[in-house]
Amino acid sequence: MELDKKRVIIDVDTGIDDAIAILFALKSPNLKVEGITTVFGNVGVEQATDNTLRVIQLAKPSYEVPVAKGAAKPLKRKLSSFSDVHGYNGLGNIELPLSRQMPVDENAEDFILRKSRELKKDLIIVTLGRLTNIAHALIKDPTLATRVKQVYVMGGAVHTTGNITPVSEANMWGDPEAADIVFSSGIPITMVGLNVTRKTKMTSQHLEFLQRHCKPENREIVSFIHNAMTFYFDFYHSNYYLMESAPVHDPLTVLVVLDPRIVKTQQMPIKIECESETCLGMTVADLRPHPEVGSPVKVCVDVNAELAINKILAVFEGIPFKNGQVTL
Ligand code: RIB
Ligand code: CA
Repeated sequence: MELDKKRVIIDVDTGIDDAIAILFALKSPNLKVEGITTVFGNVGVEQATDNTLRVIQLAKPSYEVPVAKGAAKPLKRKLSSFSDVHGYNGLGNIELPLSRQMPVDENAEDFILRKSRELKKDLIIVTLGRLTNIAHALIKDPTLATRVKQVYVMGGAVHTTGNITPVSEANMWGDPEAADIVFSSGIPITMVGLNVTRKTKMTSQHLEFLQRHCKPENREIVSFIHNAMTFYFDFYHSNYYLMESAPVHDPLTVLVVLDPRIVKTQQMPIKIECESETCLGMTVADLRPHPEVGSPVKVCVDVNAELAINKILAVFEGIPFKNGQVTL
């Protein structure tokens, strides 16, 4: 059984949706989280690391999950100020207890490189923030691109609007040079961008259902998800006119690793825009019959959104499913 598990490193900038993605990953019996690496983004890297440790403690995983701290700033650009989308602490202003766990001594890029050698072609990387750590690792050792099974990138937007500029998604915009290095490195990429994450919305109805049906041992987790998402709903109401609902970008990305059939993908050449101020971080798809720019990427273009949300929530529920348990 252990052999069937997908082995992942998750790279996070722990805000609200990263936290739920971590909880989902740690509660999914078919995943083995080999480690979590942290990066600046929603919050600074120190806060992202502290948040990650607190969230792991909340999940109470049955095995050790090392956390390696990563980049504090983009490769070439100045660090921009952090937004208040995820509250003052990145977790929707919810104070989880301080963790007893410490980050490991190794930094994120060295941790990723070592794990890629140990796990050979078994390692899957899931990125839920800026691609700075993966870019640093590729700069240090470009052969990393040949040792990783797949990188699932939460980021980008193809032929749809951005969420930080008219055309750019936050994780790509936040360090476009890093994204460019990763996308042109030859590493196999599945892009889980706004095309699909924006459709995958958690609502207050989902949260109420979850509270009614959660497994007794998941009470604290579910209460955290409920409070954090309620905070997130306010941002999405005042900025996007959504009613008691919000997209769950990062949890969907973890789900795509576990259940690739939840999305429809299309292979396309993607180039990251690094020059134009207005289009900085845009994921440009060259869909001409004879494409000339970009490297091949599996882009998620559609998702079974309602099923996706229900599958994410199911790992926290106590409802017996068809074959007796949730197998994600
Ligand atoms: O654009 C959405 C992404 O930006 C998510 O990963 C969110 O956590 C932020 O990092
Ligand atoms: Ca994130």
